[in-house]
Amino acid sequence: MRLVLVGPPGAGKGTQAQFIAEHVAMPKISTGDIFRANVSEGSPLGVQAKAYMDRGDLVPDDVTIDMVRNRLAEPDALDGFLLDGFPRTVPQAQTLDDILRETADSELDVVLELVVDDDEVIRRLSGRRTCRTCNHIWHVDFDPPKEPDVCDLDGGELYQRDDDQAETIANRLEVYAESTAPLVAYYAGRGVLIGIDATGPVDDVTQRAIDALRPLRAGVSDA
Ligand code: AP5
Repeated sequence: MRLVLVGPPGAGKGTQAQFIAEHVAMPKISTGDIFRANVSEGSPLGVQAKAYMDRGDLVPDDVTIDMVRNRLAEPDALDGFLLDGFPRTVPQAQTLDDILRETADSELDVVLELVVDDDEVIRRLSGRRTCRTCNHIWHVDFDPPKEPDVCDLDGGELYQRDDDQAETIANRLEVYAESTAPLVAYYAGRGVLIGIDATGPVDDVTQRAIDALRPLRAGVSDA
């Protein structure tokens, strides 16, 4: 299965990607995570991306597309994947179509859109904490760790992302409306878009996603 998660910043893409990828047994590929890993290593890619990320702007398409093209060529992604955070512009989506045609003579099976409003996004992003070692995502109110700033899963230190400051969140929402929201119409027109209500408890959202994928998975395994 080749699956894309789309939705505004803070919609819960990273949180849900973890669970859905396990459910469909496909690798989760998050462009945000790959960029952040490069930033913390200080690699040339990380140095290039950091200024854009700190402002809440998109990293230029050519840089992002090269990175994704390389990742999708790795053996674990050849039979399917769950993409979180890519594509984010219509040119990225068109290039993804080309990459899939060239490498695997295939196309996307489904695009899941996580639907939440801006007030909820702001509540979620301002309380988000991420584990420095395993990248697990927590929230100080909605999904708190047992001990503040310590990951329950591996004891790693929790940190607040630089782009989760109020001003940067506002810019990320504008960038989403301008550059990424048009993707929803693009994929709706292709007949691969499924919208999911992403409010309410995390487990409920996961269940809605799994329910939405069920008919499609039956089709994939029958094929
Ligand atoms: P990226 O990391 O992709 O950021 P994003 O899309 O803005 O999304 P977030 O990671 O902020 O939110 P999310 O939807 O994953 O929510 P989460 O699950 O964490 O990208 C970062 C930057 O990298 C970009 O700004 C850009 O510069 C660059 N970049 C990345 N990809 C790019 C691309 N393709 N092109 C160009 N540039 C690119 O949840 C948020 C919080 O809510 C958490 O605390 C969580 O615990 C909580 N939460 C989740 N679900 C629920 C729920 N149901 N109820 C209550 N709380 C919940």
